[in-house]
Amino acid sequence: MTSSGKQITDCGTDQRPIDLSGELAKYRDDFPILSRTVSSGEPLIFLDNAASTQRPRVVIDAISQCYEEYYANVHRGIHTLSEESTQRYERARKTVADFLHADSPKEIIFCAGTTAAINTVARSWGDANIGAGDTILVTIAEHHANIVPWHQLAERTGCKVEFIPLGEDYTIADEQVAEALERWQPKLFSFVATSNVLGTEFPVSRWVSLAHQHNATVLVDAAQAAPHEEVDVRAWNADFVVFSGHKICGPGGIGVLYGKEHLLEAMPPFLGGGAMIHRVTTSGFEPAGLPEKFEAGTPPIADAIGLEAAISYVSEIGLERIAAHERALCHVADRGLREIDGVRVIGPGPEKKGGIVSFVIDRVHSHDVAQQLDTTGIAVRAGHHCTMPLHKALGLSSTTRASFYLYNTIDEVHRLIDAVRELQVKFAPSGRRRRRR
Ligand code: ALA
Repeated sequence: MTSSGKQITDCGTDQRPIDLSGELAKYRDDFPILSRTVSSGEPLIFLDNAASTQRPRVVIDAISQCYEEYYANVHRGIHTLSEESTQRYERARKTVADFLHADSPKEIIFCAGTTAAINTVARSWGDANIGAGDTILVTIAEHHANIVPWHQLAERTGCKVEFIPLGEDYTIADEQVAEALERWQPKLFSFVATSNVLGTEFPVSRWVSLAHQHNATVLVDAAQAAPHEEVDVRAWNADFVVFSGHKICGPGGIGVLYGKEHLLEAMPPFLGGGAMIHRVTTSGFEPAGLPEKFEAGTPPIADAIGLEAAISYVSEIGLERIAAHERALCHVADRGLREIDGVRVIGPGPEKKGGIVSFVIDRVHSHDVAQQLDTTGIAVRAGHHCTMPLHKALGLSSTTRASFYLYNTIDEVHRLIDAVRELQVKFAPSGRRRRRR
């Protein structure tokens, strides 16, 4: 126990302390949906946060307030509501810039989500800078959103997409990254900060530095990082960083593309239409400056305002506290699941990962696992989680994934472990003891 009365224990080899005090439980009541029941009246245990988190009342209220009190289109109306909406929309951009420690709000492009952000880079930066014979380097742990846009770029340009394989214990060593950079001399290294399946947290600053030593531009997919840890784009020194609003208690349909200003300035706009132009004639157009150049059409105004409320909410709680809480949950879940006969955790030990624990149960399909857990009120995700190349590399077709956020409790984690144990016994072939892994 610390002087403040918190129960602190060690979390594995890297000595990061974990906090089992459950002090974040008080925020649970902020989330109306968490009080509902599912199945036959079971209290909801929501462990599908890597797919999408839930929203606290302040975010729901901020969106409602926008629509009820001041919504109008932004940047184009000379009337009170449009001016109020514009002011709030741009304030949201400034909040995101501060959250990421960006140099300027001009470096923040609102788009539909992580997928749209990566596609924007592929279409805009990629089409302008990549040609036949060039290489895009990614890791095998990428989500499809950080693979398919590069395959599409390869179809358009004749470039290659190369993958760094997984190393020991579901991680990738710096030496492997250095070797791949040396071998492929990529124009772009695009990698995930935290794997959405393995939970592995990759050393972003070190990899960015290695890539820059090889003159590669770097994109970091922070979809599973930004909601759970402080992201400082200046400290990372990445050229592009992307994340989604809906994974950080914000609305769906909005995400962020951060890009260094000089790179965004040099990039051609991707989507054409209203709002992204300075002038249009019958023979051509002149694009607007940043950030409007990349925000064609009516933007997600209320969603940006909801995202601002979400960022303020998690920032007020403190990302360090959220990360410590999730580490505690992950620690208990990881250890508890590994102790069950016939259950295999797919990912490194808790000291090397964020709040994600994926697992397989011998001879039980992940869809059956998820369906059975749902009958006890537990929501998890099952399948390939949009990472088919990773699953193929692991020799698996699917996994079951539990993923945690600030409102989950240790009690919920114990319920998950108990439910998986019961399920394993129920589905285990009779008369056979399962080998412990
Ligand atoms: N990318 C989200 C996930 O991993 C949808 O579940």
